[in-house]
Amino acid sequence: MLSFPSVVFYCVFLSVPFFFVLVPQYAGDFNNFQLLGRPAAARGVYSASEISRSSIASTNRPKPKIAFLFLTNSNLSFAPLWEKFFEGNHDLFNIYIHSDPSVTVISPGGVFHGRFIPSKKTYRASPTLISAARRLLAAALVNDTSNQYFALVSQHCIPLHSFRFMYDYLFKSPSSLTSLLSWGSSKQSRYKSIIEILSDEPNLFERYAARGLNAMLPEVPFEEFRVGSQFFVLTRRHAALVVKDRRLWRKFRLPCVSEEPCYPEEHYFPTLLSMEDPNGCTGFTLTRVNWTGCWDGHPHRYTPLEVSPELVHQLRVSNSSYSYFFARKFSPECLPVLMDLADDVIFRE
Ligand SMILES: *[C@@H]1O[C@H](CO)[C@@H](O)[C@H](O)[C@H]1NC(C)=O
Ligand SMILES: *[C@@H]1O[C@H](CO)[C@@H](O)[C@H](O)[C@H]1NC(C)=O
Ligand SMILES: *[C@@H]1O[C@H](CO)[C@@H](O)[C@H](O)[C@H]1NC(C)=O
Ligand SMILES: *[C@@H]1O[C@H](CO)[C@@H](O)[C@H](O)[C@H]1NC(C)=O
Repeated sequence: MLSFPSVVFYCVFLSVPFFFVLVPQYAGDFNNFQLLGRPAAARGVYSASEISRSSIASTNRPKPKIAFLFLTNSNLSFAPLWEKFFEGNHDLFNIYIHSDPSVTVISPGGVFHGRFIPSKKTYRASPTLISAARRLLAAALVNDTSNQYFALVSQHCIPLHSFRFMYDYLFKSPSSLTSLLSWGSSKQSRYKSIIEILSDEPNLFERYAARGLNAMLPEVPFEEFRVGSQFFVLTRRHAALVVKDRRLWRKFRLPCVSEEPCYPEEHYFPTLLSMEDPNGCTGFTLTRVNWTGCWDGHPHRYTPLEVSPELVHQLRVSNSSYSYFFARKFSPECLPVLMDLADDVIFRE
């Protein structure tokens, strides 16, 4: 028998995907999504911790899954490489794609078939990239309660390891590899979000003040303002926390008025999570990027001639006691050479 609070919880929870099916245009709109969670009766029931508890605690549920969130505004050129990555792991992941509707993006089929979510136009260095990531998180949260990690990647990202390597790293515990991810507290989930959180970057104050000197106050004092890679792997608890947030989003969605780009997508997630739950985050990213010699906000984009087994091995290496899982950016022309390396290098540990 379900207790009354459980019944309320399941009704509220199950009604969300239903609502999206019936009224698809609302799926992309966060104010509406959040309004759903707002009514007083539902407020305490549909909390982030309950969403994650409901799916972690029970033993008779399917294995935990990783939700892969593809954020793109061009074709998913590396789909064949990802297809190989996912091969043989079909009960352990879900894919969700947010693709800018103003460009023609062809569905690659296969594991990507039918995984496009209702999307809106995105612009570089603007809050639209935050909205898109929040849409992806929301779609993945309501679509499958087995989704326990949410990995944001782009069309320019490639995997640097096998799916199994990543899955074991994220879910197996305790082991030397996952000790970094452990909570050490029995009260809370042992899983941590893997998100970069930095406070000592140049231009941080300019980016903070980009909406006007005091625009972020009082919610976000400069001392709490953080920066980090746009690409993260969030726990379910943090994914729900992000989707439910209104306080900081109201500030970060303000347009930048400065001449310099202010990259809100590199600030919103690290700032929110470092304010709400710093100990639940690793502080580093799993996505390798090469900024050497770059000055215009675009990282180095690898071309086919640069791709080699040595590069893959080099990109995996991190200063911390972990390995990078993904790397960016790669030009679409790299696909054939990456496919040649797939079995013997990329997916071999
Ligand atoms: C995606 O690929 C299709 C077919 O190859 C092409 O027509 C379309 O223009 C491509 N889209 C982009 C954004 O390049
Ligand atoms: C999750 O998405 C899949 C594929 O679109 C769909 O078949 C399934 O019904 C969805 N589940 C829920 C609970 O919305
Ligand atoms: C990073 O990019 C620079 C060119 O901008 C290149 O010379 C260097 O080899 C790259 N580093 C790695 C590790 O790929
Ligand atoms: C590793 O750390 C050293 C010293 O802290 C730094 O100079 C180097 O750039 C770091 N390498 C990477 C790949 O982060």
